[in-house]
Amino acid sequence: MPFAIQYDRFGGPEVLELREIPYSTPGPGQVVVEVRAAGVNPIDWKLRAAIRPSGELHGWRGVGTDAAGVVTAVASDVDEVAPGDEVIVSDAKGAYATELVVGAGHVARKPAGLPWEQAAAIPIPAGTAYQVLRSLGVGKGDTLLWHAGSGSVGQFAIQFARAAGAEVFATASERNHDRLRELGAIPVTYGEGLADRVRAAAPGGITVAVDAAGTDEAIAVSKELVADHDRIGTIVQGAKAAELGIRAWSGGNPVPLTAEELALRAEAVPYAAELAARGELDIEIAHRYPLAEAAEAHRQSETGHVRGKIVLLP
Ligand SMILES: NC(=O)c1ccc[n+]([C@@H]2O[C@H](COP(=O)([O-])OP(=O)(O)OC[C@H]3O[C@@H](n4cnc5c(N)ncnc54)[C@H](OP(=O)(O)O)[C@@H]3O)[C@@H](O)[C@H]2O)c1
Repeated sequence: MPFAIQYDRFGGPEVLELREIPYSTPGPGQVVVEVRAAGVNPIDWKLRAAIRPSGELHGWRGVGTDAAGVVTAVASDVDEVAPGDEVIVSDAKGAYATELVVGAGHVARKPAGLPWEQAAAIPIPAGTAYQVLRSLGVGKGDTLLWHAGSGSVGQFAIQFARAAGAEVFATASERNHDRLRELGAIPVTYGEGLADRVRAAAPGGITVAVDAAGTDEAIAVSKELVADHDRIGTIVQGAKAAELGIRAWSGGNPVPLTAEELALRAEAVPYAAELAARGELDIEIAHRYPLAEAAEAHRQSETGHVRGKIVLLP
């Protein structure tokens, strides 16, 4: 029987249960995927804990949006993929599972050389990093300050921004500085005195900044250092962005992503997968857990100090 991690009440990691689910059959436009790895994103536990509102629970709800696996069945009207294809799944409802059913538009082909874990680590983090950098027009001549450079979004952002020709300054605690250097960023320690440390590291100034840390410090320092506040964005403090006079994409922002922003996020998945398969993009897996230990994976993610990505292995 297939299994999925589900919850029927909001709360701590203990609400997550491994439950037997019925075998899936694809409805019109859908495909069934046998999951080989699922990505754990902070939004998964923010929804579980009702930190981000998601509507009342009426019964059991699945967890997770990102996965990689093998197509096992497709509806008769689907011709983009076929059983046996290896795919990356984005925006699923219940990716923490041994199998899932999803619209065919939510799967992208996984390059043969790309390991399952790395493939599952791509959708939300790479999509967000890519879209935010493109929306801010980050490119040659820019000096980017990325707050939380060692997180899963940050690691993609550093590599994409470097590839686009920008110089990158990224914050993390000192134990993660070597990793930031490996990715091509100049590391800066966050905390008291951050603005002065960034000024010392970037004497030419900062032209664009992104808060992926969700701290008041990240916003204040960005506003202090970047002259054009239209080139400051947050992916965590979206609820306050309008009042702060900065840009935001999801992360509590009442304004939904535009069709163009959604398209950029979707475009990032095959782009990142191809780069990673060619060895031109490094995807760090921090922790692997069996599917049944999803609660432990959430506890780990909730520390806020994971370097790289957490994946579940059904
Ligand atoms: N709006 C969106 O569409 C969207 C999409 C994806 C993610 N997000 C949000 O963006 C945030 C980052 O996501 P993620 O997946 O990258 O998270 P993550 O992997 O859990 O990020 C953890 C990293 O944050 C660093 N960090 C912790 N506190 C920090 C601070 N005060 N200043 C700078 N860095 C700090 C940690 O470095 P140290 O261990 O060195 O402290 C750690 O490496 C989350 O809040 C997530 O919910 C939003």
